[in-house]
Amino acid sequence: MSEVLNFLHSRNSAPKLIAPAPSAQQMQDIFQAAMRAPDHAWLRPWRFITVADERREALGLVLEHCLMLRNPESDESARSKARNAPLRAPLLVVVVARLSQHPKVPAIEQRLSAGCAAQGVLLAAEASGYAGIWRTGESAFDRNVMSALGLDENEEIIGFVYLGSRAGKAKSIPDLDTAAFVSSW
Ligand SMILES: Cc1cc2nc3c(=O)[nH]c(=O)nc-3n(C[C@H](O)[C@H](O)[C@H](O)COP(=O)(O)O)c2cc1C
Repeated sequence: MSEVLNFLHSRNSAPKLIAPAPSAQQMQDIFQAAMRAPDHAWLRPWRFITVADERREALGLVLEHCLMLRNPESDESARSKARNAPLRAPLLVVVVARLSQHPKVPAIEQRLSAGCAAQGVLLAAEASGYAGIWRTGESAFDRNVMSALGLDENEEIIGFVYLGSRAGKAKSIPDLDTAAFVSSW
């Protein structure tokens, strides 16, 4: 099996991420790879917002504030979970779908492209010796969170991609039988 194929077979999300995160130069290469996502009509329906260092704490406060707007009854455990969520990795990339009207490219296709770009970030980060995990949760679908991050009305959060170095060993990957998922017609 080729080295690249072997790499693709073993991609593995990492829930526990520690420093170091990819450098700014490495992130350029990672974004470059992500922007090779398939993209109908080359609309480039994505953008990436990085959140690092103390800005993660600022984002945590935003997530907590927006949680309280969604659910004013939230207890301290829920509040601190929201507040500390961005601290689970040294670097976050908010992958944003930037939707435009196009006669041949419906919004779903643009969202799928942005999703492929998110996968591209994960793959390229792992190929650069780092690890990551794609997370969403209620805050990813909250317009108040989107506004705080500077998203326009036509933009949506596709995911929070957490990046860093894998803490501990990679989990074992279940052996999936392709026959259960593939048929010929
Ligand atoms: C759109 C999307 C949203 C996700 N949201 C979360 C999340 O909020 N929390 C979480 O633990 N995993 C989430 N996951 C799953 C993880 O990213 C990861 O795929 C999962 O832990 C399985 O690990 P693996 O990718 O190594 O197979 C999400 C995945 C996708 C595609």
